[in-house]
Amino acid sequence: MPPAGIPRAASLWFLLGAFCVWLGSPMSAAALADGGQRPGRDFPHRGLNILFVIADDLRPALGSYGDSLVKSPNIDQLASKSVVFQNAFAQQAVCAPSRVSFLTSRRPDSTRLYDFNSYWRTHAGNYTTLPQYFKENGYITVSVGKIFHPGISSNHSDDYPYSWSVLAFHPSSEKYENTKVCKGKDGKLHANLICPVDVAEMPEATLPDIQSTEEAIRWLKTLKRIKRNFFLAVGYHKPHIPFRYPRKFLKLYPLENVTLAPDPAVPKKLPSVAYNPWMDLRQREDVAALNLSFPYGPIPKHFQRKIRQSYFASVSYVDTLVGKLLDALDETELSHNTVVVFTADHGWSLGEHGEWAKYSNFDVATRVPLMFYVPGVTTQISDPGEKVFPFIDPFAQDSCSGLPGKPKEMVELVSLFPTLAELAGLAVPPACPQPSFHVPLCSEGKSLVQYFPSSGGGQESHGSKRKETPVAFSQYPRPGDTPAPNSDLPLLQDIRVMGYSLRTADYRCTIWFGFNPNNFTIDVKDIHGGELYFEESDPNEDHNRYNKVLRGSPIPKLCHLVDHLKLGSTSVQ
Ligand SMILES: *[C@@H]1O[C@H](CO)[C@@H](O)[C@H](O)[C@H]1NC(C)=O
Ligand SMILES: *[C@@H]1O[C@H](CO)[C@@H](O)[C@H](O)[C@H]1NC(C)=O
Ligand SMILES: *[C@@H]1O[C@H](CO)[C@@H](O)[C@H](O)[C@H]1NC(C)=O
Ligand SMILES: *[C@@H]1O[C@H](CO)[C@@H](O)[C@H](O)[C@H]1NC(C)=O
Ligand SMILES: *[C@@H]1O[C@H](CO)[C@@H](O)[C@H](O)[C@H]1NC(C)=O
Repeated sequence: MPPAGIPRAASLWFLLGAFCVWLGSPMSAAALADGGQRPGRDFPHRGLNILFVIADDLRPALGSYGDSLVKSPNIDQLASKSVVFQNAFAQQAVCAPSRVSFLTSRRPDSTRLYDFNSYWRTHAGNYTTLPQYFKENGYITVSVGKIFHPGISSNHSDDYPYSWSVLAFHPSSEKYENTKVCKGKDGKLHANLICPVDVAEMPEATLPDIQSTEEAIRWLKTLKRIKRNFFLAVGYHKPHIPFRYPRKFLKLYPLENVTLAPDPAVPKKLPSVAYNPWMDLRQREDVAALNLSFPYGPIPKHFQRKIRQSYFASVSYVDTLVGKLLDALDETELSHNTVVVFTADHGWSLGEHGEWAKYSNFDVATRVPLMFYVPGVTTQISDPGEKVFPFIDPFAQDSCSGLPGKPKEMVELVSLFPTLAELAGLAVPPACPQPSFHVPLCSEGKSLVQYFPSSGGGQESHGSKRKETPVAFSQYPRPGDTPAPNSDLPLLQDIRVMGYSLRTADYRCTIWFGFNPNNFTIDVKDIHGGELYFEESDPNEDHNRYNKVLRGSPIPKLCHLVDHLKLGSTSVQ
């Protein structure tokens, strides 16, 4: 298959991007017309650097994704100069499986990592990772903060030396995350869920994400000096629980302004296998004190509001750090030749469906922000030293929401690898055969460059071939049919059911099949539950229509899951 058409950036795209007033002088059509530097003409640009920024458990609660409450002016500014995918999905809504999936460009059935406890190189296949590919192509690759999940799943080394040129940096203050550092009403220190802090009073007088930002900025200065192409990955720990963040961010979200989830009840027709009881929340001291009933709660309304307030405050805290990082990209005069990608490993349910966690196949858990800033493609190439990302103080400036012109296609994080390869002008890894355990370098995703808006902003793209309509897949394992303490995160040997979920523009269909962890097979005749939500009439995914559309067949026609995922072959070695 020929490589996907490479779109040229359009003047229309620029004008749409200049929607936000703080961008400084918006570019005029005339300026573009006679601009010597026609963006995109010599694309792909060999030699672009990559700044890969990933937040932990961040759903698209951002101004640039239309959230009117959340203040995220720096990420929104990045979005205003980026291609912003509206419908991007993680392949499994939990940290290690999602990260290993998109970093190897394989689905969880190929990494065989559904929990935290195996290393793909020895457990599945010796797959080349995204950073490793850049490293092997002459880039310096650097990991700052949480990129791989630490522990067994990255061989206790963040996959060094394969993926990284130097040992991964982890902030020293990360070790206090789950200790008693949150001041309670009793004046004592607790290990709470909700933990706004005075940074000066914290152990080491700092927080992990502040340290990671400082380290990343040090790296930008070093990388600028040594003049080597780089792939710098910066992983923020927030808004992952516990919500330990500088107290001042609370001021952005007066409690009375914080709304509750529109659908806080467990949906009546939700199969019990689909529900997860958010155990990690219950273990926090402040949540434990609420004496919640297992497995369905509910959490008292006043506390729901406080959780949402602290999640949003954590998002604004991360936004400020991203703003400082991008400001440093300007300062080091690297904005004109560095691709910036911003995303998250998966989302988080903020009370929707009575859930407070990831661990599911719902949109709230699987959908992520995903944006690519590509100088010369999503913006005109700036002059070195020109300010592209001036820091924006969230206390002084409102977010910009509702930017037009975002691709709406259903896309997947498993596509990050081929996309970044194409953007940097490296060979795009070939599509994986099925199975692909023996193939070190291939991708189960597709380069998303084909969905970048093209000249004129219309359907037309570089090639004449019509784009196919993409769909997104996610999956989640369960130990059994009813919510149990290990439903959130079952160990591989305890997995008995696998929920495969298909998301199209119109609906989400999830089928929970019997799963055998000894030979990684599913039994397509052993169905433990089905879910079908029509997005237009039911965007929050509360009204399960699965049984309504069955009409005597074992699987609704709409689902076609077996065809798409080729479950039989992806799961059998
Ligand atoms: C795995 O691949 C790496 C290169 O990607 C290679 O250095 C290593 O020797 C391989 N390991 C095995 C066991 O094949
Ligand atoms: C994983 O780490 C161990 C201990 O450092 C090392 O001996 C082993 O070779 C590593 N595995 C791979 C596949 O590199
Ligand atoms: C809170 O809501 C009020 C009333 O809608 C609004 O005027 C105010 O700006 C909001 N405060 C913040 C910090 O968003
Ligand atoms: C929770 O239970 C404990 C012990 O039974 C009791 O002291 C406490 O008041 C209860 N808290 C709430 C919020 O009901
Ligand atoms: C996997 O194991 C189960 C139970 O032992 C068995 O019934 C099934 O046939 C096996 N599937 C394959 C493809 O080996």
